[in-house]
Amino acid sequence: MASEHPAAAQEPPLLDLTDVSVSYAGGAVRALDGVSLTVRRGQIVVLLGVNGAGKTTTLATISGLLPYTGGSLERGSVRFAGEDLKGRTPSSRVQRGISMVMEGRRVFPDLTVEENLVAGGFTRSTTEARSARDRVLEMFPILAERRKQLAGLMSGGEQQMLAIGRALMQSPTLLMLDEPSLGLAPLIVEQIKEIVVEINRQGTSVLLIEQNAAMALSIADYAYVLDSKRVARAATGRELLADRTVQELYLGVAGEGRASFRSAHRARTTGALS
Ligand SMILES: Nc1ncnc2c1ncn2[C@@H]1O[C@H](COP(=O)(O)OP(=O)(O)OP(=O)(O)O)[C@@H](O)[C@H]1O
Ligand SMILES: [Mg+2]
Repeated sequence: MASEHPAAAQEPPLLDLTDVSVSYAGGAVRALDGVSLTVRRGQIVVLLGVNGAGKTTTLATISGLLPYTGGSLERGSVRFAGEDLKGRTPSSRVQRGISMVMEGRRVFPDLTVEENLVAGGFTRSTTEARSARDRVLEMFPILAERRKQLAGLMSGGEQQMLAIGRALMQSPTLLMLDEPSLGLAPLIVEQIKEIVVEINRQGTSVLLIEQNAAMALSIADYAYVLDSKRVARAATGRELLADRTVQELYLGVAGEGRASFRSAHRARTTGALS
């Protein structure tokens, strides 16, 4: 986890979303309504939010995949390293340094571990891809051991490591992960956490979506809570871990059982009982 150096605050952010609004189904479904967020170089930034809050939509907007999911950017901008990404294709965003691990561990099941990695390095020269592969295999000994095995035969945790390894084949500046620990055993979740910290330590900025809020906030430099299509709260990981509303909604601490961040937060700050 990198703490922010005073000079870093003056640098333009690595990633900057400003007032982003997104809809699906030709405008019938609004998914994001004026979302702004920032990732600075060297940071781990976490995005929390209940199901349907708009987390995956946010990543799709950044990666450029949004139009392919039937979504459209109605308003706002996405800037990466100072450049407006409007009109840039997903693969040109990958080439600019943005890689993503999608929801649901999507590896190619009929390809070997090694072939999956090679596929991940699709924009790179053979020499670059080879050295990236060697670095990935060093970071994930389990993938080195299984490099000739079909990906579909590996456990869920191993497939997730492969999905992360594949994204690292681009040596990204920004790695985005969409719920990497979902459905995995606590021991594997812990390993994924350590891997994210190590990737970050080696210089990659991270934007992490997680249902496992305790894990995510423990490594977050900064975190955003999405609720009802908007950013409901933004603070350091430490501050959010101590926040009563976050504890109640995301950390399993007994509360009033309210369904949304807004209603819980409003009740707490106004003293309302409803
Ligand atoms: N392709 C789509 N077409 C229509 N509506 C969509 C589409 N994708 C997402 N939505 C809607 O947009 C809203 C945000 O969805 P999104 O997948 O971004 O949420 P999420 O926070 O990632 O949820 P989850 O935790 O379940 O993954 C939801 O209301 C969802 O139903
Ligand atoms: Mg999602």
